[in-house]
Amino acid sequence: MTIHAALLGTGAALPARRVSNAELSATMDTSDEWIIERTGIRFRHVAGEGETTASLATAAARKALAAANLTPDQIDLIILATATPDQTFPASATRVQAALGIRDCIAFDVAAVCSGFLYALGVADSMIRSGAARHALVIGAETFSRILDWEDRTTCVLFGDGAGAVVLGATEEQRGILACKLHADGRFNDMLYVDGGPSTTQTVGKVRMKGSEVFRHAVTNLASVLEEVMTTTGLTTADIDWVVPHQANKRILDGTARKLGLDPAKVIVTVDEHANTSAASVPLALDVAIRDGRIRPGDLVVLEAMGGGFTWGAAVLRV
Ligand code: UT7
Repeated sequence: MTIHAALLGTGAALPARRVSNAELSATMDTSDEWIIERTGIRFRHVAGEGETTASLATAAARKALAAANLTPDQIDLIILATATPDQTFPASATRVQAALGIRDCIAFDVAAVCSGFLYALGVADSMIRSGAARHALVIGAETFSRILDWEDRTTCVLFGDGAGAVVLGATEEQRGILACKLHADGRFNDMLYVDGGPSTTQTVGKVRMKGSEVFRHAVTNLASVLEEVMTTTGLTTADIDWVVPHQANKRILDGTARKLGLDPAKVIVTVDEHANTSAASVPLALDVAIRDGRIRPGDLVVLEAMGGGFTWGAAVLRV
């Protein structure tokens, strides 16, 4: 009997405040034209007072549970992918657990920055297939606005806040997560990082990025891991109904699709509305495309992401 981790429901949450490029260009040396042309970003949501990574994660989790038709007490595993936890410890996943009123389950955070949701999905998939969990909440949630240097126009226009969640459940059917491949190459730590931390500076630090280097590696690594994960399933790119990529830059999405010969119409794009929400971007985009009816039951969907570390990964999902 082979167990798979099926997708039972998705949910998302965005901070109330939506900030346009024009609003940013009123206070810094940038422009709507530059941001749209170089990134495809038009808006981002920015967390206000009282909105935190854990509160956004909890709101997304509640919606995913409702979509899955499950109650919180049926969840036995919570994995929260984030680079912006409410506190260094305890894990923000345990705050979500408490907010949902779950008395006992496994709960921990995963730190793989923009690839965090793929890493969390891979771990949850392994734990479900091994029998360690039956129903998992896998969440990507970030408040990157709190670690941006708002004086640095090369980074601060790129990111946004938000959360996306999925509920996975054990099934004996041949659906759900069919394959997942994860990678890291720590030689590139200094390409995209935060210049602080508890053990080094005793500060939280701010985001720093060598944008064009990250861009170059992103297209190469994403195209390669996407091919790798498809080979594992025995399927080809022609079998893919939808790609739900990490939303960092529209040009990266286009470049990756071109490299793989994928129809750009099959690529879900939310970077225009959300900007780069790091670990939240893939589950946010997945939720948008499921709720608007583009992704339907039975579709073959590929999720992919790349971020700081470098870390990158991809998963194939039969919805
Ligand atoms: O989520 C993890 C993965 N992250 C990514 O994948 C991000 C990857 N990188 C990128 O998306 C792009 O490299 C950026 C959007 C960050 C930058 O685009 P680029 O085409 O690589 O631009 P650039 O860094 O080469 O900068 C071009 C010019 C520079 O001016 P000079 O030196 O040519 O005079 C920058 O100073 O654009 C200037 N610039 C800006 N101008 C207006 C940089 N940021 C801005 C800005 N507004 N916000």
